[in-house]
Amino acid sequence: MQATSGLAECAGYTTRMAAATSGNATLSGAAGSQFDLFREPQLSNPYPFFERLRREAPVFYAEDIDHWVVSRYQDVKQVLRDYENYSAQNTITPIHPLCDAARQALEDGGWNVLPALGNADRPQHTRTRKSVIKAFSPRRIAGMQPYVSAMLNSAVDRFEQDGKAELMGQLLFDLPALVILKLLGFPDEQAPAIKEGAKNRILFVWGRPADEEQTRLAAGLAGFFRLCRELVDERLARPTDDLTSELLRVRAEDDESLSLDLIASILFAFFTAGHETTASLLGNSVIQLLRHREAWEKIIAEPALIPGAVQEILRYDSSVISWRRKAKRDMEIAGVKVPAGAQLLLLLGAANRDGEMFDDPEQLDITRRNAGRHLSFGDGVHRCLGATLAQMEAKLTLEALSRRLPGMRLAAGQRFDYLPNISFHGPREAHVEWPV
Ligand code: HEM
Repeated sequence: MQATSGLAECAGYTTRMAAATSGNATLSGAAGSQFDLFREPQLSNPYPFFERLRREAPVFYAEDIDHWVVSRYQDVKQVLRDYENYSAQNTITPIHPLCDAARQALEDGGWNVLPALGNADRPQHTRTRKSVIKAFSPRRIAGMQPYVSAMLNSAVDRFEQDGKAELMGQLLFDLPALVILKLLGFPDEQAPAIKEGAKNRILFVWGRPADEEQTRLAAGLAGFFRLCRELVDERLARPTDDLTSELLRVRAEDDESLSLDLIASILFAFFTAGHETTASLLGNSVIQLLRHREAWEKIIAEPALIPGAVQEILRYDSSVISWRRKAKRDMEIAGVKVPAGAQLLLLLGAANRDGEMFDDPEQLDITRRNAGRHLSFGDGVHRCLGATLAQMEAKLTLEALSRRLPGMRLAAGQRFDYLPNISFHGPREAHVEWPV
């Protein structure tokens, strides 16, 4: 550890306190009190603070959110891979406890979302993941390519002559939503209802909504789960060629391995895991490449650089900057004792800029050789199942935009806004313009 500062003292204090206490050690040192991803300046740019954490407080307890925060690459990776000692059960539990009214809204809305993938542990996770991999095959993912290309081209056709666009609202937010809806088999006319129902799940799980808002979000999410369950029943009666029908085929009426509620929970997980994450990756990609103009010019001149650029953007400005685990027993991470039952917040975004792993980590380098070692898709048995699809969408989007609108620039004077939450990072709006 380097020279002392407020954070360094806090880290040392954490170590000593944690060693001397069992259960929930409560610390309120500098790292704990200054760590606040919900608010500016960390909300829009957490990276300077992440750099301090890696250096001065690589593992500390943040009382405010009741999580132990881990920021160095090797520590984050090790926890992600160690399913024996760390559970994934807490990954999508609301970080802000549910109020009674929100709990009631879920119950009244017929909420029965079961631990499906991301928040399930072995052995159930292994069983479900195997079934899903059979249905979510490389062929099915590749089969989405013409649909994505057609959507991109018709969107650019619509706004090309305007000389400007708000890219999130006019294209990037809808594209991954429509891809997932098509994949799962939801009819197009249900798209608005589904997007509304699933909206702001991020705030519900990873934000700090006030009671009234939490209750409204709970009702919307319960409604969205009902639509997932209805689709399962519909496909049970009339199978087609979508992922839902395929999951029902894989299930082969074996309720033990895949119940109908579990399939509906998988659909729910897919939509929520695959929409905002990817929309934000697309938004972050456009913003970063236009900010680093030389990188934008490079991909125009040599489109074969685009897949590498996508990896580097996942490293440099990921749409998922943190993920969670829970210690199953007393553990020690980088010399800090973490008690059994402790919740961990793994800062993927901080790990991705760790100088021990990446040279010049604060530089965007679209030809970086080891960019693909980023942890933005997690690691180990839970590694993201949609990574190939997300990267395909990003590649096609950058190909289409750089080919058809090479003169695109970020509109001057705009400020990018982000949803106040601890895990998901992507712009709400992105205004761009180009010469016509
Ligand atoms: C840029 C886009 C995406 C990012 C950054 C991302 C990130 C992640 C992360 C961090 C995890 C947790 C991994 C762990 O616990 O080790 C995860 C899991 C998961 N993701 Fe993604 N994801 C993205 C896109 C998608 C898409 C498009 C889909 C679906 C079509 C998807 C489906 C899933 C599923 C099902 C899991 C749970 C896997 C399991 O627990 O076995 N993701 N993702």
